[in-house]
Amino acid sequence: MNGYDQSLGVFASIDGQDIAVGELYYDKSANMLSRDPVLAFQYAHNFLENEKCYQISPDLPLTREVIRMSERIPTPGVFRDMLPDEWGSNLIWRSSSSDQYVMSVVENPQFLHQLDVLKITSDLTRQGNLRLANESNEFIAPQLSPLPIVDSLDEIAESKNHYLSNIFETEEILRLKNVVSSIGGAAPKVSCLDRRGNLYIAKFFKADITGQITSNPIFEEVCLRIARELEIETEKSQLIQLSNGEYAFIAKRFDRLDGNRIPYLSLYSMVEGKVNRSETSYELLGELVFSKFGAKASKDFFVRVALNIAVNNTDDHLGNTGFLFDFSSEQWELAPLFDIYPNSNIKGQSPVSVKKNNVHNSRGFSDLIDIAPVFGLSKDVAKKITHKVASAVSSKWVEQALALGAQSVDIDRYELVFSLSSYYLRGTVSS
Ligand SMILES: Nc1ncnc2c1ncn2[C@@H]1O[C@H](COP(=O)(O)OP(=O)(O)OP(=O)(O)O)[C@@H](O)[C@H]1O
Ligand SMILES: [Mg+2]
Repeated sequence: MNGYDQSLGVFASIDGQDIAVGELYYDKSANMLSRDPVLAFQYAHNFLENEKCYQISPDLPLTREVIRMSERIPTPGVFRDMLPDEWGSNLIWRSSSSDQYVMSVVENPQFLHQLDVLKITSDLTRQGNLRLANESNEFIAPQLSPLPIVDSLDEIAESKNHYLSNIFETEEILRLKNVVSSIGGAAPKVSCLDRRGNLYIAKFFKADITGQITSNPIFEEVCLRIARELEIETEKSQLIQLSNGEYAFIAKRFDRLDGNRIPYLSLYSMVEGKVNRSETSYELLGELVFSKFGAKASKDFFVRVALNIAVNNTDDHLGNTGFLFDFSSEQWELAPLFDIYPNSNIKGQSPVSVKKNNVHNSRGFSDLIDIAPVFGLSKDVAKKITHKVASAVSSKWVEQALALGAQSVDIDRYELVFSLSSYYLRGTVSS
């Protein structure tokens, strides 16, 4: 088998139908080492001939040959985007030795490789539209316990709090792990369903360092509401207050539509090899988005960058922008905006500067206007956009925060950050 002794079948769910896309090969013996095994992928010849054929990942060109990954990038981007990160991986790792399913599918639960985690994460909630099948052609992994309903998150939030404070029953951690899904990110989160069966993600927020429940999650919803005013595409989202007073932020899954699965790739996977993940610039990203996705996408991306700057969102890493594949236009398009959050620390640093080689990592609107041409925009258009964004932020944030229940202490905490937009407006004129 091409030098590899094991494989998983890969299927793409396209308009509700599961089509065999290819095989993901791995070497079982490599799995015993602590490094991630280098994977290989081969498209199914029938898929290459199918009218719905599309390139599932930028690092998997449409070819009949076996594509071998490298030591540097052992897992293709589309599969990496299906993996949980900090929160989910920790949970899976800590529950693995008590988990019968994990023990039945992995060689060594002490060393969970990316491939192991792929085999463990639930098929039902996996990010994007790819499904994995074992040698008996069964989709893996089964959903081992029912997902909670969005308006009944109290119990699962309690398990999350027990887990975070390190006092939990094995049963609790297993149940939590079973609803954690493949969704990435550092914040505690679970998959859940609305009463019509639509898939949602629920994101919880840790108490602040004093142990107080924080109302900061309000500000993710504030940013999304301002984004909607600016006609930036967002998914349906809502804040829910739980019986213990803490908030859950819930958002409908944008990679599901009427029960169908939609292909998803992060910006990181889209530009891998062309940028340095931990240190890059919007000047470079704008160029790449413009050349790869065209003028509409790069203008929309520019508006999002302006909003990130206006609200001091410094967690704007490349995993926090995504793309969905549209089978009618046969194009990857920007996914709805997600994970936008103001950093109340005005000196907070983002991994993405505005200009290339910017040692000071300054992130002002004037720098953004300077680099507008790489997004295919004139400086005049860029000025109008930044003005509109700054106006929306400065005029709406208090109103939205109060409407969502923010206390004056929260308003005070974010005052300085949001007032940057007002300072900016004072120095410009609307045109
Ligand atoms: N509405 C949504 N529909 C589908 N997938 C989503 C949605 N919102 C977020 N995701 C996916 O879930 C991942 C984690 O969500 P999010 O970025 O909000 O969490 P986080 O823990 O705050 O992340 P970070 O580690 O960047 O702070 C995202 O990278 C994205 O892939
Ligand atoms: Mg994120």
